[in-house]
Amino acid sequence: MAFGGDYSPEQWSEDVWTDDVALMRRAGVNSVNLGVFSWGLLEVADGVFEWGWLDRILDLLHEGGIGVNLATPTAAPPIWLLRAHPEIATVDERGVRTSQGGRLAWSPSSATFRRYALRMVRALAERYGEHPALRLWHVSNELGNENARCHSDETAVAWRRWLEARYTTVDAVNDSWGSAFWGHHYASFAQIEPPRFARGGHNPGLLLDFERFSSDALLEHYVAERDVLREVTPDIPVTTNFMIMSYTQVDDYARWAEEVDVVANDHYTMSADPFRHAELSFSADRTRGIAKGDPWLLMEHSTSAVNWQSINRAKPPGELARNSLAHIARGADGALFFQWRMSTAGAEQFHSGVVPHAGADSKIFREVEALGATMKRLAPVVGSRVQPARVAILFDHDSASALSFGRMPSDLVAPQDLPKRMHRAFTARHIAVDVVPSTADLSEYALVVLPTLYVVSNAAADRIAEFAQGGGHVVVSYFSGIVDDTNRVRQGGYPGAFRDLLKIRTDEFFPLVEHETVELDNGWVADLWTESLELRGATALTAYRSGEMADVPAITRATAGSGTATYLATRLNDAAMLHFVDELAELAELPVIADADAGLELVRRVGPDTSFLFAINHTAHSLTVRQGGTDLISGSRHDASVEVPAGGTVVVMS
Ligand code: GLA
Repeated sequence: MAFGGDYSPEQWSEDVWTDDVALMRRAGVNSVNLGVFSWGLLEVADGVFEWGWLDRILDLLHEGGIGVNLATPTAAPPIWLLRAHPEIATVDERGVRTSQGGRLAWSPSSATFRRYALRMVRALAERYGEHPALRLWHVSNELGNENARCHSDETAVAWRRWLEARYTTVDAVNDSWGSAFWGHHYASFAQIEPPRFARGGHNPGLLLDFERFSSDALLEHYVAERDVLREVTPDIPVTTNFMIMSYTQVDDYARWAEEVDVVANDHYTMSADPFRHAELSFSADRTRGIAKGDPWLLMEHSTSAVNWQSINRAKPPGELARNSLAHIARGADGALFFQWRMSTAGAEQFHSGVVPHAGADSKIFREVEALGATMKRLAPVVGSRVQPARVAILFDHDSASALSFGRMPSDLVAPQDLPKRMHRAFTARHIAVDVVPSTADLSEYALVVLPTLYVVSNAAADRIAEFAQGGGHVVVSYFSGIVDDTNRVRQGGYPGAFRDLLKIRTDEFFPLVEHETVELDNGWVADLWTESLELRGATALTAYRSGEMADVPAITRATAGSGTATYLATRLNDAAMLHFVDELAELAELPVIADADAGLELVRRVGPDTSFLFAINHTAHSLTVRQGGTDLISGSRHDASVEVPAGGTVVVMS
């Protein structure tokens, strides 16, 4: 199991490095991300390289038996480069160019930046490609975090080129975007601009394409760095750290995953989210989904508080281990922290680390040390895969993007909201779920769920219908299948892509205002959304008892070939969602992961002839999982059941 974190030794004098390596050994650290933001200290002036400090720390880490994920330092361009070439920086919607002082200030469409970055990458690879500590290349850092979208003139040229490659003629763009409305007709590609500041809102087709272009531009930069690394060091794997749950990112990671040797993700919990451990599980399942089930790496998470939310909640005792182990349960073969030693100066002074301001005599360091010992005991788990689920939640980046553009029936339909709620309900019922893009192979699933899958291509709609015809069970929620992949609304009644499959038709949406609820005639409570749905061959499972839609069906089901198609026209509250999941579990004969008390989070990883049942206790009392085996963490054997202490985790090997 990879264990360790981001290490920025450049912040400290070299005597601290010796202490760090000793503490790393004490904590069982075997893997650090090094050099992430160090370009300015390695190339101190144009073409002038100073490697001494990096040579010394690499040797020191190697002597300590610690492997290095060496970062190409391109996430932070040096001050001299930004001053010589301010045009490499991103430009926002209002034409404001990013200044020096932060990080990721560069535009992926800048040819000048690319030239300097690749020269740096080549120099680094040539110098350290054979270093015995080197395990993995870590390209840049969270590409798209601070440089997701650029609106510069140079980007505009790249954007037009991208459009030309996709559409060939400008009239195809006009058709796709419906640019006749508001008189936006373009006579040539040269007239098309990035979505710079405009009043009244941009064309949704343009916005979706600009998101795709921006993802591709960043990906192209990643691929350019990766190709230099592959050329110089063909045997060293290459990755970059994704941020799969970020609400603002543009990267379509299902596509990015094809270009990395191992999928790596960063995850941070949100202080204000009461369901943060469920959100973490959703994130980990999504990461595994784009990794196509292969083991992946948790490249960053925090030991405790971060410093970038308005109130940065610290993790109470035990949460650090539960968080790390939940990622591992869901397919990670390692868990690393940002960052090793908490900064005293610089932009992240109050971000937790493994070694806090208080030093190693601290709750956090002690917990990391204990976790390091646990990680060693989990070695048998490495390489095993999460047992395939029978349920898939479809989650696509296009839908998430399009849902965030606004000017829709309700801004409360947030991209991750319903997917997370449904994932949480299945998880609470100990039913394994995969979270996969709609391009995934669906053939092994019994149930496929489309929670607010707003953008659906014809090909995806056909595959989903075929899945049901072949005996699968499909659940479609409100506001799914509404637009095609050009972000144009499908005609003839909602939900256009699935009207025939579901055997229903809606002619108008009636979203509810914030905090408004409706009751269903089976006693369930719902909010957020209703619609004037008509049955066209489906049966109503329940209808609204109250509200403007009283007596209108709220949940429907139709037969589809040898399968079924269920429509959820409203957002169920948590209690009702659990009942709904129970009903779906019966319909699709979904197995539970194990027989266990409610409150335990269960995940099973399987090797060729071994099963590893992870049971994580998120409650304040001890709970039981009824399966025998050896708990890898405590080493104890159990015949028929294992008790999981309050806040603790067991990994039952059998
Ligand atoms: C991101 C970055 C790190 C650090 C952390 C703080 O994940 O990759 O460099 O800034 O956030 O949470």
